[in-house]
Amino acid sequence: MHSVIVGGTRGIGREVVRLFSAQGHTVSVMGRRAPADADRRLPGTHFWAGDLTDERELVRLLGEIVSRNGELNSLVLLQRFKGEGDRWGGELATSLSATRTIVETLAGAFGGTGDRSIVLVSSVVGRFIAEGQPVGYHVAKAALGQMARYYAVELGPRGIRVNCVSPCTMVKEENRDFYSKNQDLNSLFKKIIPLGRMGTALETANVIAFLCSEKASFVTGQEILVDGGVSLLSQEALARKLTGL
Ligand SMILES: NC(=O)c1ccc[n+]([C@@H]2O[C@H](COP(=O)([O-])OP(=O)(O)OC[C@H]3O[C@@H](n4cnc5c(N)ncnc54)[C@H](OP(=O)(O)O)[C@@H]3O)[C@@H](O)[C@H]2O)c1
Repeated sequence: MHSVIVGGTRGIGREVVRLFSAQGHTVSVMGRRAPADADRRLPGTHFWAGDLTDERELVRLLGEIVSRNGELNSLVLLQRFKGEGDRWGGELATSLSATRTIVETLAGAFGGTGDRSIVLVSSVVGRFIAEGQPVGYHVAKAALGQMARYYAVELGPRGIRVNCVSPCTMVKEENRDFYSKNQDLNSLFKKIIPLGRMGTALETANVIAFLCSEKASFVTGQEILVDGGVSLLSQEALARKLTGL
C-alpha cells in the first residue's frame, strides 16, 4: 500500500501518517517544513518538502514521489493556507488549485487493482460560518465538497473513490495546552456538543483511514462531518442549553 499525505507534517495530517505507518503503508508525506524528528523516523515514511502553490515544482515533486514509491492506493489532502499576504488568493491557490493539480496529476498513478481512494479534508465551515475565519477559507472549504463529488464521478470508472471529511475544531498537539488551560471554553463545549466533549485529531484521522480502506469500498462522493453532533442543534436548542432555560 502506498499513500500520499499532503499536509501530513502537522495536526490531523500527522495523525493520518502515524496511523498509515502503523498499518504498514509506504507513506509519502508532503509539507513545506520537515516533520518532527520522531515522525521522520516512522517506518515506511518519506518526506518531500515543497510549496504546493508553485505548480511546476509541485508537479516535479509528484513525479519524484511516484518514481520512488510507486503506484498509489490512497491520497489524502489536508493542506490549508497559513501564509502572509492576500488571504483570498492564498486560500484558493493552496486549497483549490493545488488540490486540482495533485488529483489530476496523480489520477493516472493509481494502481490497477486493490482499493483506491482520495480523501479531501474540508471543514464544517464549508457549510457554516466561523467568525474570525476569512471568506476565502469558507469558500475554499465549500468548494472542496463539490470537487469531491466531481472527481467521484470522473474517476469512478477507474475504480478510484473520492470523498470529503469535514471536522469541527479538533484538539491536536498544537492546541492541546490552550484547551486544557481554558476550562470555561471546555465546559461550554461539553454543554453544546451532543457527545459532550471536543473531538481529537486522531478521531478525524480514523474516519479518513476508514474511507481509505476496503471497508468503504462502495462509498464515493460523500462528505462526512466529524463534529460530535454539534451541527444538529437549532439556535433555540443552543440558547436553551447555554442559559439553562
Ligand atoms: N484542526 C482543526 O481543528 C480543523 C477543523 C476543521 C477543519 N480542519 C482542516 O483539516 C486540515 C488539517 O488541519 P490542521 O489544523 O491539522 O492543519 P495544520 O496544522 O495547519 O497543517 C497544515 C498542513 O498543510 C501543510 N501546508 C500548508 N500550506 C502548504 C503549502 N503551501 N505547501 C506545502 N504544504 C503546505 C502544512 O505544512 P507546513 O506547516 O510545512 O506549511 C501542514 O503539514 C485543514 O485542511 C483544515 O482546514 C482542521
